[in-house]
Amino acid sequence: MTKSTITFVCTECGGESLRWAGQCPHCRAWNTLQEFQVRKAASGTRTRSTTPSKAIRLSDVLSDAAPRRALDWDELNRVLGGGIVPGSLVLIGGEPGVGKSTLLMHAAAQIARSDQKVLYVSGEESAQQIRLRAQRMGALEPGILLLAENDLDAICDSIRVEEPQLAIVDSIQTVTDAGFEGSAGSVTQVRESAARLMRLAKEIGVPIFLVGHVTKDGSIAGPRVLEHIVDTVLYLEGDRRQELRILRAMKNRFGSAEEIGVFAMGEGGLEEVPDPSALLLSAALTASPGTSVVAALEGTRPLLVEIQSLVNATDNAMVRRIANGIDINRLHMVLAVLEKRLDFKFGKSDIFVNVAGGVRVTEPAADLGLALSIVSNQNNRPLPDGLVVIGELGLAGEVRRVGQLERRLQEAARHGLTRALIPSGGKAGRPSGLDVVEVATLAEAVSAAFPSPMKSGAFIKGAGVTVS
Ligand SMILES: Nc1ncnc2c1ncn2[C@@H]1O[C@H](COP(=O)(O)OP(=O)(O)OP(=O)(O)O)[C@@H](O)[C@H]1O
Ligand SMILES: [Mg+2]
Ligand SMILES: [Zn+2]
Repeated sequence: MTKSTITFVCTECGGESLRWAGQCPHCRAWNTLQEFQVRKAASGTRTRSTTPSKAIRLSDVLSDAAPRRALDWDELNRVLGGGIVPGSLVLIGGEPGVGKSTLLMHAAAQIARSDQKVLYVSGEESAQQIRLRAQRMGALEPGILLLAENDLDAICDSIRVEEPQLAIVDSIQTVTDAGFEGSAGSVTQVRESAARLMRLAKEIGVPIFLVGHVTKDGSIAGPRVLEHIVDTVLYLEGDRRQELRILRAMKNRFGSAEEIGVFAMGEGGLEEVPDPSALLLSAALTASPGTSVVAALEGTRPLLVEIQSLVNATDNAMVRRIANGIDINRLHMVLAVLEKRLDFKFGKSDIFVNVAGGVRVTEPAADLGLALSIVSNQNNRPLPDGLVVIGELGLAGEVRRVGQLERRLQEAARHGLTRALIPSGGKAGRPSGLDVVEVATLAEAVSAAFPSPMKSGAFIKGAGVTVS
């Protein structure tokens, strides 16, 4: 016998509330709370199962679990933690049109090519549409079975009957479980369907990939309401107008959640990009004022990316601070340090910051590069050619050490950069061909990067930079 209790779940952040409200108390989004039924066994009716569960010794648990299935693309394997784990439930989130279905069709084709079976369940596209995409991508493999279905029972039955090496459900927001109220895409439907698919995956050992749309529309539950249910959460990011796509692990029960995989979108679908630094730097060869190159670490991999800043004087009372690809709070902090420690004045300027290629840099090690790109644009002076800037900024204007410095320097040297500004101290090896300068403070970094006096901004005591 079951009794249901009702809570309210935010479709945007997944946060729960006991009462309905117009605004989510967790993420402050408006009109995103949705009723969610929790089924609870009524008290007193709990029946003891006939075979009581027995605890076993941890050391007796067999460790030779089925091996991971590696895909052709190492970019994909790395994000998955080394390949697809049997019985795992993986959520792939992303904005509309970013390429989720394309990515999963590539994965399907790679498995089907080795004489394996993949079940692709689509609730939102017709079989013809999917065929056309697969054809364009060269992924028309006979091992891929297609099921156009929304009903969860039918989907589960089909997965049981076919027992594919991989099942894909595109998307979880189109699936409905007839046992629950609410339309497809509601919090209840999305959660309950995912939970049932999770149990099925574990029971029969079939890995299942779910697509989850990220929408701004509060009526459809986004991937975040599923994050704690599934084993692995990956987000596909990228600017639809540009070719680069980044698959980022947000949670992974089977591997590091810091890895990224890089892909490029083209006519023929996606391609993996094993050396993204080369692609990202190609545009940065000619130094221009406001551009700096930083070496950010994404998971286990150093990535050279270009930061561009534009500092533009304005008469508007409200100045703008826009950051694409960098956390806006990081930008505010760097600006505050520049103003307080080096006497820059940004109160009458709009400031725009952009990371080239649609990449998102989440690491503080990019702070110093960001600061120098702003100084460079403000003074209309390019940074030296072939320079990579590495270092975190402290609030006192000190340049702090970052992890894995040596690997970052190696990546820079490998891509033909010739100079590096790095935090002082530390014992990182210096790759040959790289002229390395250590700096302890932002002031030192500015004078090392711009050896002759600058027009505006900085007065830096004892650092050889003068200001008119
Ligand atoms: N000839 C083409 N026809 C259609 N799409 C193309 C073509 N060439 C490249 N693309 C890319 O494929 C993308 C669509 O990819 P896909 O359908 O896999 O995205 P999705 O994330 O599954 O989107 P949705 O939210 O609609 O399900 C387009 O945004 C476009 O960048
Ligand atoms: Mg799609
Ligand atoms: Zn919320």
